[in-house]
Amino acid sequence: MDIRKEIQSLKKKLNAVILAHNYQSYEVQSIADFVGDSLELSLESRKTDAEIIVFAGVKFMAEQAKVLNPNKKVLIPTPSAVCSLANMVTVKMLEEYRRRYPDAPLVVYVNSPIEVKASADYIVTSASAVSVISKLDSDTILFAPDANLAHYVAEVTKKKIVPIPPTGHCYVHLLITPYDILEAKKKYPNGVVIVHPEVPSESQKLADYVGGTSGMVRFVAKTDAKVFLVGTETGMLNRLRRDFPDKEFYPIVSKADCIGMKKITLESIYLSLKNMVYEVSVREEYAKRVREALERTFKLLGV
Ligand code: 13P
Ligand code: SF4
Repeated sequence: MDIRKEIQSLKKKLNAVILAHNYQSYEVQSIADFVGDSLELSLESRKTDAEIIVFAGVKFMAEQAKVLNPNKKVLIPTPSAVCSLANMVTVKMLEEYRRRYPDAPLVVYVNSPIEVKASADYIVTSASAVSVISKLDSDTILFAPDANLAHYVAEVTKKKIVPIPPTGHCYVHLLITPYDILEAKKKYPNGVVIVHPEVPSESQKLADYVGGTSGMVRFVAKTDAKVFLVGTETGMLNRLRRDFPDKEFYPIVSKADCIGMKKITLESIYLSLKNMVYEVSVREEYAKRVREALERTFKLLGV
């Protein structure tokens, strides 16, 4: 059986679309109808005419697509594809910080559970965090759950960003240390260092560019350099190598693999379409509040 052909024919028959995150494998990215970062995937899910969205990413991203498209069927090929960062924050933690900072808006990173997003005033991605927070009137902002991204936003906006919890982190990006960057630079002295804002703040200081995955694509497109050292999940190299075949990309840490992202495979996508599994559902009480926070955020961003 040619699995790629089977996927294409099921997609056509069912009027389905495959949306894949930049961290997916080369095979998954090449079968997808659209590849992007978490913000672009949300926006794309709103645009598509397809009746079924197969989401090649982690659970919180598929849930977000469902919230924005209550009348479409959203499938996640592997239900255990989860983001460990998302599970570092609880509603109880938010309540405690709301009591301590009653006037500060609560900005929640999209990498969080649905009930946490339902408590947010604004929901951002790594691509939109700086522009949303700089547009808010308040100089003190509550931000959950990634403390490194919170630190990055504080540096750029000069606002007081209170991270909830104080040590929220992504285990994949924590692997990218200053030592690894310096070692990579020894090997490729002309390499331009690009890192995700989830890497530790000491690593961010050594980078030529800090930004989300879509920002990395735009930065590489406008930079003349030929060699880039990439400090994020390894799937991003697939996206960069596909888009820029004339440039060279090396991972700063070659084992920076996200277990959740890597659970999506061509086989699981095929079975998802064949058996209509696993359907994503979101409780309406949460979906309504998340939709409101997202629309408020999109309005601020003008998208
Ligand atoms: P993006 O915001 O660039 O999509 O990254 C999401 C993510 O999970 C980072 O680890
Ligand atoms: Fe979550 Fe980290 Fe994986 Fe991104 S790379 S989905 S933050 S565990």
